[in-house]
Amino acid sequence: MAMLTWSIALIVTSAAVARAYNNGLALTPQMGWNTWNHFGCDISEDTIVSAAQAFVSYNLTQYGYEYIIMDDCWQAPARDNSTGAPVADPQKFPNGIKDLADKIHDMGLKFGIYSSAGLYTCGGRFGSLDFEVIDAQTYASWGVDYLKYDNCYNEGRAGTPQISFERFNNMSQALNATGRPILYSMCNWGEDGPWNFAVTIANSWRISGDIMDSFDRFDDRCPCTSVLDCKLPGFHCAMARIIDFAAPIGQKAGPGKWNDLDMLEVGNGGMTFDEYVTHFSMWSILKSPLILGNDVTNMTNETLSIITNEALIAVNQDPNGSPASRQTNTAVDGGSISLWQGSLVNDAFVVAVLNTSPNNQTTTIQMSDVFFDQGSVAGSEPWEFFDLWQKDDAGTWGKSIGTVQGSLEVDIGPHSVKVWRAIPQSSATKRFVEEL
Ligand code: GLA
Repeated sequence: MAMLTWSIALIVTSAAVARAYNNGLALTPQMGWNTWNHFGCDISEDTIVSAAQAFVSYNLTQYGYEYIIMDDCWQAPARDNSTGAPVADPQKFPNGIKDLADKIHDMGLKFGIYSSAGLYTCGGRFGSLDFEVIDAQTYASWGVDYLKYDNCYNEGRAGTPQISFERFNNMSQALNATGRPILYSMCNWGEDGPWNFAVTIANSWRISGDIMDSFDRFDDRCPCTSVLDCKLPGFHCAMARIIDFAAPIGQKAGPGKWNDLDMLEVGNGGMTFDEYVTHFSMWSILKSPLILGNDVTNMTNETLSIITNEALIAVNQDPNGSPASRQTNTAVDGGSISLWQGSLVNDAFVVAVLNTSPNNQTTTIQMSDVFFDQGSVAGSEPWEFFDLWQKDDAGTWGKSIGTVQGSLEVDIGPHSVKVWRAIPQSSATKRFVEEL
């Protein structure tokens, strides 16, 4: 009987994978670091090697971080004029990209690169539009493991899901044809709804304009109120706005196909500690890729404590791959109180309450709301709740707050979040550490 259950599980798992991009990668959201949020165009071989060395010294791979991703501005002024192959800036990368990738690999990490499905990249370097095959082949020959693929200067080849699909599919096919497993991270800012059209051609897709290192600052350069029909994704999108953008589209993500809420700003200085805790928590439970965007060679202990919260990372990396969904959302002064829930393996759930208002709030959450999808038995039975931002006596993230039945009163600070792992009390052992 156990055998039979196991084989059914295998069939279900492989069916789920087959409905994603068929490169078999990112069965849980990818984790790593990217140059852009902190360094912008000011990058060189040294920037990237130093970050990789910091990964090793902080042992970040132990937590799941593995990709070191070089964003825009690595390119020379022009392609090789005889072969058309991409060429790196010889000043910034005197040893070339293959040598850099080798160094990253020698440190036990994986290496990512950036280009754009346009004539130019957003930073004005040469793009890959109509050069997909030679670029994919060159990346593979350099040992690239990951491509972030942007959307600037796309020559108007967007506007319907099908037009966008074709342009991004050209690179998807070219990457697969190399035979090298290369994670494909689309970055078309939600244009034409990639959560609908890209699930079979990419491992993740950005859902909005670029993140800004601010909790909720207003900025007209991020003009859309929703991403569902957004004509100008823009940039300077505050963190809390991206949470709102992501809320309705979690249903489209799963193993191998993730909504990318953009790279993390944790540690870059624009938000408070509590705001960064909120940022990391929400990216984790919404199953965004967790791509660090700070200077990892120079981190405070506070930053390190956030990005290494194993209990949150375990939620993000849960094999079930179900982004949390917003169950209730109630306006309060200057923001809202919202309730989020997502299912995890072994009958567990992640439950979160988010307060985007600038004031303390007290609220009572009803288990019938938390477990609305699961029905009245789940809503009325006892659950053991583990607070994922408290450590237990052994120093492990995730402290039991005891049994919760019926409702739970929650005090929550400004711009803050509470996140718990809920386990049916009938099987309430602290299993998630072993499940990492
Ligand atoms: C776009 C992307 C960013 C970054 C820059 C680089 O704005 O959305 O994440 O890659 O381009 O120029």
